[in-house]
Amino acid sequence: MLDRAGCLANDRFIRQYQEWINPILARDLELKTTSRPSRIVDMGVGPGFLSRALARRFPEATVIGVDINPAMLDLARDNLAGRPEAQRIELVKQDVHALSFEDRYADVVISWSCYHHWADPVRGLAECWRILRPGGVLSIFDVEPSPEMIPYLQANLSDPEIAGILVKSLREAVPQQVVGEHARAAGIVGFEIKPFELDMAAVLDCIDEIEEPARVSEPSPVNSIAWALTARR
Ligand SMILES: C[S@@+](CC[C@H](N)C(=O)[O-])C[C@H]1O[C@@H](n2cnc3c(N)ncnc32)[C@H](O)[C@@H]1O
Repeated sequence: MLDRAGCLANDRFIRQYQEWINPILARDLELKTTSRPSRIVDMGVGPGFLSRALARRFPEATVIGVDINPAMLDLARDNLAGRPEAQRIELVKQDVHALSFEDRYADVVISWSCYHHWADPVRGLAECWRILRPGGVLSIFDVEPSPEMIPYLQANLSDPEIAGILVKSLREAVPQQVVGEHARAAGIVGFEIKPFELDMAAVLDCIDEIEEPARVSEPSPVNSIAWALTARR
Protein backbone atom coordinates (compact mmCIF):
# COMPACT_ATOMS: atom_id res chain seq x y z
CA MET A 1 0.00 0.00 0.00
CA LEU A 2 1.36 3.44 -0.91
CA ASP A 3 2.66 5.70 1.85
CA ARG A 4 2.12 9.47 1.79
CA ALA A 5 5.04 9.99 -0.63
CA GLY A 6 3.63 7.35 -3.00
CA CYS A 7 0.18 8.92 -2.79
CA LEU A 8 1.70 12.31 -3.63
CA ALA A 9 3.44 10.81 -6.69
CA ASN A 10 0.05 9.44 -7.76
CA ASP A 11 -1.43 12.88 -7.24
CA ARG A 12 1.30 14.45 -9.40
CA PHE A 13 0.67 11.92 -12.14
CA ILE A 14 -3.06 12.58 -12.19
CA ARG A 15 -2.65 16.36 -12.13
CA GLN A 16 -0.11 16.22 -14.95
CA TYR A 17 -1.80 13.73 -17.26
CA GLN A 18 -5.26 12.68 -16.22
CA GLU A 19 -7.19 15.33 -14.32
CA TRP A 20 -8.87 16.41 -17.56
CA ILE A 21 -10.62 13.06 -17.88
CA ASN A 22 -12.68 13.38 -14.70
CA PRO A 23 -15.29 15.94 -15.84
CA ILE A 24 -15.64 13.85 -19.00
CA LEU A 25 -16.27 10.69 -16.97
CA ALA A 26 -18.88 12.54 -14.94
CA ARG A 27 -20.59 13.72 -18.14
CA ASP A 28 -20.35 10.19 -19.57
CA LEU A 29 -22.12 8.92 -16.45
CA GLU A 30 -24.87 11.49 -16.89
CA LEU A 31 -25.47 10.10 -20.37
CA LYS A 32 -25.67 6.55 -18.95
CA THR A 33 -28.17 7.30 -16.18
CA THR A 34 -31.87 7.57 -16.86
CA SER A 35 -32.72 9.25 -13.54
CA ARG A 36 -30.62 11.63 -11.44
CA PRO A 37 -28.56 9.54 -9.00
CA SER A 38 -28.64 10.53 -5.35
CA ARG A 39 -25.88 8.21 -4.10
CA ILE A 40 -22.76 7.67 -6.21
CA VAL A 41 -19.97 5.40 -5.01
CA ASP A 42 -16.52 6.23 -6.45
CA MET A 43 -14.55 3.02 -5.95
CA GLY A 44 -10.84 3.71 -5.42
CA VAL A 45 -11.25 7.45 -4.92
CA GLY A 46 -7.47 8.08 -4.83
CA PRO A 47 -6.67 11.82 -4.57
CA GLY A 48 -10.35 12.68 -5.09
CA PHE A 49 -10.50 14.28 -8.54
CA LEU A 50 -13.25 12.08 -9.97
CA SER A 51 -15.39 12.45 -6.83
CA ARG A 52 -15.06 16.21 -7.15
CA ALA A 53 -16.14 16.16 -10.81
CA LEU A 54 -19.08 13.90 -9.93
CA ALA A 55 -20.21 16.16 -7.09
CA ARG A 56 -20.13 19.11 -9.49
CA ARG A 57 -21.98 17.32 -12.27
CA PHE A 58 -24.65 15.94 -9.92
CA PRO A 59 -25.40 18.77 -7.45
CA GLU A 60 -28.23 16.82 -5.81
CA ALA A 61 -26.10 13.73 -5.16
CA THR A 62 -23.90 12.53 -2.34
CA VAL A 63 -20.63 11.03 -3.58
CA ILE A 64 -19.08 8.31 -1.45
CA GLY A 65 -15.37 8.07 -2.19
CA VAL A 66 -14.14 4.63 -1.14
CA ASP A 67 -10.49 3.69 -0.76
CA ILE A 68 -8.59 0.96 1.03
CA ASN A 69 -5.61 3.23 1.76
CA PRO A 70 -5.97 5.68 4.68
CA ALA A 71 -3.03 7.76 3.36
CA MET A 72 -4.89 8.22 0.07
CA LEU A 73 -8.06 9.23 1.91
CA ASP A 74 -6.04 11.83 3.86
CA LEU A 75 -4.72 13.21 0.59
CA ALA A 76 -8.23 13.33 -0.91
CA ARG A 77 -9.39 15.17 2.21
CA ASP A 78 -6.56 17.72 1.76
CA ASN A 79 -7.36 18.17 -1.94
CA LEU A 80 -11.05 18.68 -1.28
CA ALA A 81 -10.68 20.98 1.72
CA GLY A 82 -12.49 24.27 1.28
CA ARG A 83 -14.25 23.31 -1.93
CA PRO A 84 -18.00 23.84 -1.79
CA GLU A 85 -18.78 20.50 -3.43
CA ALA A 86 -16.75 18.71 -0.75
CA GLN A 87 -19.73 19.03 1.59
CA ARG A 88 -21.42 16.32 -0.47
CA ILE A 89 -18.41 14.00 -0.65
CA GLU A 90 -17.97 11.38 2.06
CA LEU A 91 -14.60 9.63 2.21
CA VAL A 92 -14.66 6.13 3.65
CA LYS A 93 -12.06 3.46 4.17
CA GLN A 94 -13.26 0.18 2.73
CA ASP A 95 -12.01 -2.72 0.66
CA VAL A 96 -13.95 -3.44 -2.53
CA HIS A 97 -13.80 -7.14 -1.68
CA ALA A 98 -15.89 -6.77 1.49
CA LEU A 99 -17.99 -3.61 1.44
CA SER A 100 -20.01 -2.79 4.53
CA PHE A 101 -22.74 -1.01 2.53
CA GLU A 102 -26.11 -2.72 2.53
CA ASP A 103 -27.66 -4.28 -0.59
CA ARG A 104 -29.17 -1.66 -2.94
CA TYR A 105 -27.21 1.14 -1.24
CA ALA A 106 -26.11 3.03 -4.36
CA ASP A 107 -27.59 4.43 -7.56
CA VAL A 108 -24.18 4.30 -9.22
CA VAL A 109 -20.87 2.54 -8.66
CA ILE A 110 -18.16 4.13 -10.77
CA SER A 111 -14.45 3.40 -10.77
CA TRP A 112 -11.50 4.71 -12.76
CA SER A 113 -8.11 3.02 -12.77
CA CYS A 114 -8.64 0.85 -9.70
CA TYR A 115 -9.59 -2.56 -11.13
CA HIS A 116 -6.02 -3.68 -11.75
CA HIS A 117 -5.38 -3.46 -7.98
CA TRP A 118 -8.09 -5.94 -7.03
CA ALA A 119 -6.74 -9.26 -5.75
CA ASP A 120 -10.03 -10.98 -6.55
CA PRO A 121 -11.81 -9.04 -9.31
CA VAL A 122 -14.78 -11.42 -9.42
CA ARG A 123 -15.45 -10.82 -5.77
CA GLY A 124 -14.88 -7.07 -6.16
CA LEU A 125 -17.33 -6.89 -9.06
CA ALA A 126 -19.89 -8.98 -7.17
CA GLU A 127 -19.67 -6.56 -4.26
CA CYS A 128 -20.12 -3.51 -6.53
CA TRP A 129 -23.12 -5.24 -8.11
CA ARG A 130 -24.62 -6.22 -4.76
CA ILE A 131 -24.69 -2.66 -3.44
CA LEU A 132 -26.44 -1.30 -6.55
CA ARG A 133 -30.17 -0.71 -6.42
CA PRO A 134 -32.32 -2.14 -9.24
CA GLY A 135 -31.88 0.19 -12.22
CA GLY A 136 -28.56 1.43 -10.81
CA VAL A 137 -25.53 1.83 -13.07
CA LEU A 138 -22.16 0.10 -12.83
CA SER A 139 -19.46 2.00 -14.74
CA ILE A 140 -15.92 0.71 -14.41
CA PHE A 141 -12.88 1.84 -16.39
CA ASP A 142 -9.30 0.70 -16.45
CA VAL A 143 -6.44 0.31 -18.90
CA GLU A 144 -5.68 -2.53 -21.27
CA PRO A 145 -2.24 -4.12 -20.90
CA SER A 146 0.21 -2.29 -23.20
CA PRO A 147 3.60 -3.95 -22.66
CA GLU A 148 5.07 -2.12 -25.66
CA MET A 149 4.57 1.19 -23.82
CA ILE A 150 6.66 0.21 -20.82
CA PRO A 151 10.18 0.82 -22.23
CA TYR A 152 8.90 3.95 -23.95
CA LEU A 153 7.58 5.40 -20.69
CA GLN A 154 10.71 4.41 -18.79
CA ALA A 155 12.85 6.19 -21.37
CA ASN A 156 10.73 9.30 -21.77
CA LEU A 157 9.10 10.29 -18.48
CA SER A 158 11.25 12.63 -16.41
CA ASP A 159 9.66 11.74 -13.04
CA PRO A 160 10.82 8.22 -12.11
CA GLU A 161 8.08 7.83 -9.48
CA ILE A 162 5.41 8.58 -12.06
CA ALA A 163 7.06 6.19 -14.51
CA GLY A 164 7.08 3.53 -11.78
CA ILE A 165 3.36 3.98 -11.07
CA LEU A 166 2.52 3.70 -14.74
CA VAL A 167 4.69 0.71 -15.44
CA LYS A 168 3.18 -1.11 -12.45
CA SER A 169 -0.37 -0.39 -13.59
CA LEU A 170 0.41 -1.48 -17.17
CA ARG A 171 1.94 -4.70 -15.85
CA GLU A 172 -1.09 -5.42 -13.65
CA ALA A 173 -3.69 -4.33 -16.24
CA VAL A 174 -6.44 -6.81 -17.06
CA PRO A 175 -7.52 -7.22 -20.72
CA GLN A 176 -11.16 -6.49 -21.43
CA GLN A 177 -11.87 -10.04 -22.58
CA VAL A 178 -10.83 -11.32 -19.13
CA VAL A 179 -12.85 -8.57 -17.44
CA GLY A 180 -15.88 -9.87 -19.36
CA GLU A 181 -15.24 -13.34 -17.92
CA HIS A 182 -14.97 -11.82 -14.45
CA ALA A 183 -18.26 -9.97 -14.93
CA ARG A 184 -20.03 -13.18 -15.98
CA ALA A 185 -18.54 -15.07 -13.02
CA ALA A 186 -19.69 -12.25 -10.70
CA GLY A 187 -23.28 -12.76 -11.88
CA ILE A 188 -23.54 -9.41 -13.66
CA VAL A 189 -26.15 -9.66 -16.38
CA GLY A 190 -26.55 -7.54 -19.50
CA PHE A 191 -23.13 -5.91 -19.22
CA GLU A 192 -21.23 -4.30 -22.04
CA ILE A 193 -17.46 -4.13 -22.24
CA LYS A 194 -15.66 -2.17 -24.94
CA PRO A 195 -12.76 0.21 -25.50
CA PHE A 196 -13.43 3.55 -23.86
CA GLU A 197 -13.78 6.15 -26.54
CA LEU A 198 -14.12 9.84 -25.92
CA ASP A 199 -17.45 11.24 -26.98
CA MET A 200 -16.48 14.62 -28.44
CA ALA A 201 -19.89 16.09 -27.61
CA ALA A 202 -19.32 15.11 -23.97
CA VAL A 203 -15.81 16.59 -24.05
CA LEU A 204 -16.98 19.91 -25.43
CA ASP A 205 -19.86 19.98 -22.99
CA CYS A 206 -17.56 20.01 -19.97
CA ILE A 207 -14.40 21.62 -21.29
CA ASP A 208 -14.77 24.60 -18.92
CA GLU A 209 -14.62 22.29 -15.89
CA ILE A 210 -11.14 21.02 -16.66
CA GLU A 211 -8.87 22.70 -14.13
CA GLU A 212 -5.52 21.23 -15.03
CA PRO A 213 -5.28 20.41 -18.74
CA ALA A 214 -2.74 17.69 -19.52
CA ARG A 215 0.66 19.08 -20.40
CA VAL A 216 2.04 18.02 -23.72
CA SER A 217 5.76 18.44 -23.11
CA GLU A 218 6.14 14.71 -22.42
CA PRO A 219 4.55 11.68 -24.08
CA SER A 220 1.10 11.15 -22.65
CA PRO A 221 0.71 7.87 -20.74
CA VAL A 222 -3.01 7.99 -21.38
CA ASN A 223 -2.43 7.05 -24.99
CA SER A 224 -2.80 3.50 -23.70
CA ILE A 225 -6.20 2.05 -24.40
CA ALA A 226 -8.77 2.00 -21.64
CA TRP A 227 -11.85 -0.22 -21.44
CA ALA A 228 -15.28 0.57 -20.07
CA LEU A 229 -17.48 -2.01 -18.36
CA THR A 230 -21.08 -0.85 -18.08
CA ALA A 231 -24.16 -2.58 -16.71
CA ARG A 232 -27.59 -1.64 -15.43
CA ARG A 233 -28.79 -3.63 -12.42
C1 LIG B 1 -4.47 4.39 -9.44
S1 LIG B 1 -5.42 4.96 -8.07
C2 LIG B 1 -6.79 5.67 -8.94
C3 LIG B 1 -7.44 6.77 -8.18
C4 LIG B 1 -8.58 7.48 -8.86
N1 LIG B 1 -9.66 6.58 -9.21
C5 LIG B 1 -8.12 8.27 -10.05
O1 LIG B 1 -7.95 7.74 -11.13
O2 LIG B 1 -7.90 9.46 -9.90
C6 LIG B 1 -6.17 3.46 -7.45
C7 LIG B 1 -6.81 3.62 -6.08
O3 LIG B 1 -7.51 2.42 -5.76
C8 LIG B 1 -7.31 2.14 -4.37
N2 LIG B 1 -7.54 0.72 -4.11
C9 LIG B 1 -6.70 -0.30 -4.40
N3 LIG B 1 -7.21 -1.47 -3.99
C10 LIG B 1 -8.42 -1.20 -3.46
C11 LIG B 1 -9.43 -1.99 -2.85
N4 LIG B 1 -9.26 -3.32 -2.72
N5 LIG B 1 -10.54 -1.40 -2.37
C12 LIG B 1 -10.69 -0.05 -2.49
N6 LIG B 1 -9.76 0.76 -3.05
C13 LIG B 1 -8.64 0.20 -3.52
C14 LIG B 1 -5.88 2.59 -4.13
O4 LIG B 1 -5.60 2.80 -2.77
C15 LIG B 1 -5.79 3.85 -4.97
O5 LIG B 1 -6.11 5.01 -4.25
